[in-house]
Amino acid sequence: MMATADTYLEPELEQAGKPAGPCVMVLFGAAGDLTMRKLAPALYNLAKAKLLPASFAVVGVSHDELTLEQFREQITRFLPAKERQSDACRWFVDRISYERGDFADPATYETLANRLRDLDKQFATGGNYLFYLATAPRFFAEVVQQLGRSGLSSQVDGCWRRVVIEKPFGTDLDSARALNSKIKGILVENQIFRIDHYLGKETVQNIMVFRFDNAIFEPIWNRRYIDHVEITNAETVGVEQRGGYFDTAGTLRDMVPNHVMQLLSLTAMECPVSFHADAVRNEQSKVLHAVQHLDSEDLLERCVRGQYGEGVVGNEGVPGYRTEPGVSRDSRTETFVALKLNIDNWRWAGVPFYLRTGKRMAKRHTEITIQFKNSPTELFRNTAMHRMRNNQLVIQIQPVEAISMNFGAKIPGPILRVGSVDMSFEYSKYFGADAYTGYEVLIYDCMIGDATLFQRADMVEAGWSIVDPILDVWKALPPRKFPNYASGTWGPKEADQLLEIDGRQWRTIE
Ligand code: BG6
Repeated sequence: MMATADTYLEPELEQAGKPAGPCVMVLFGAAGDLTMRKLAPALYNLAKAKLLPASFAVVGVSHDELTLEQFREQITRFLPAKERQSDACRWFVDRISYERGDFADPATYETLANRLRDLDKQFATGGNYLFYLATAPRFFAEVVQQLGRSGLSSQVDGCWRRVVIEKPFGTDLDSARALNSKIKGILVENQIFRIDHYLGKETVQNIMVFRFDNAIFEPIWNRRYIDHVEITNAETVGVEQRGGYFDTAGTLRDMVPNHVMQLLSLTAMECPVSFHADAVRNEQSKVLHAVQHLDSEDLLERCVRGQYGEGVVGNEGVPGYRTEPGVSRDSRTETFVALKLNIDNWRWAGVPFYLRTGKRMAKRHTEITIQFKNSPTELFRNTAMHRMRNNQLVIQIQPVEAISMNFGAKIPGPILRVGSVDMSFEYSKYFGADAYTGYEVLIYDCMIGDATLFQRADMVEAGWSIVDPILDVWKALPPRKFPNYASGTWGPKEADQLLEIDGRQWRTIE
């Protein structure tokens, strides 16, 4: 990466930038969207960056009837057109093999074991296997149990076996616990990598660097100086081709216990004692456990749900949720959620965290806004514009990756007038734009056995335990007026009222 800023690496980070050790990556769900659009391009990017080991191979497993040539061809179609003849591309594609099989059939794992033994011989991969479960969630426990039964998950003779599990991890607290208990019957925790792709995003990882590598923010990062925190995760897309899944899940399950809770925990956690996986995850887990659980009365006031109707997104007319493929015509599934949460600890007592996430909103935009308190005296109360909101620190996660701080400044001229100005840093301007998918760092970390950016069992369960009471009440009290927001807007009016009754408003996103 070309950096215009001064960059330096601590010795241990330089170590971490070396190619991973020998291994085979096994992709279950190899013909699916995730493999094609994210995982294969990410592996290719790692190959280009020389972060894959020389002793490396990939095996795709799926129930689709595909020849090896067809599988390789499909993967190549998702690699950059201009690079398909490059050495890195050929090196990568030559290492790909394909196995057709049903995930519930023990024979699949026998054939796979034979294949892996051959690859170990051919590529000197040392018996180290990374199994990636890019499958439908109903197969997670099944595949892990089959890996156990076939002996493929046993770490013997100094080799390692790790399993990456995609989301959704369960559909509520009970099912997440049950899944954890099934997989922990086969694997030990340090073999399990529960992935949340938000942790692969540069700006999400940067929250920790920003907070803990800069001593200037820590003294003011608390209830004395912060009025409230907003987390907005807005998408312009609808449910696309995933109506069948989404209609049984809804936005609360799909986004909140995982992605939104990652953003919240990184923003609110205490400084870990080291950057070691468990030190970081202990702090994330602690803060998730401190999120106040809502009783049914609070819940009605603090949780807003919405479903999009038809509307206009970026000049294009789009249909309402209920007419999307795979969605029931009288669906009561929410496509938007806004919550007001409190964190019961010394740092955050009394500081509300307002969260909102939804589909078909006005703009694709994810950000965290830290709204600092007003100055204690209103010295400039009689000057024009003094009521503008200042002292907001905005961490933009996507699509623009940036951090900005706004504050009041004197507008030049003979009359004293105060305006709001921005001090901002944009990732792409400093460090150049990159073409990473976000999965590179996560796959590489699995290969080197670093679980810092993965969810531990207790974190997943803590996320669900925040959401569970809301699921229960919403189930008991179906929404009365769905759809309640037009596509292309910022969600139902109740989401604005959530802040207005506290004398606040969402930061305006332009
Ligand atoms: C997925 C959800 O986990 O995250 C999707 O299942 C959502 O519904 C997606 O669209 C959002 O990811 P990103 O990286 O586009 O913000």
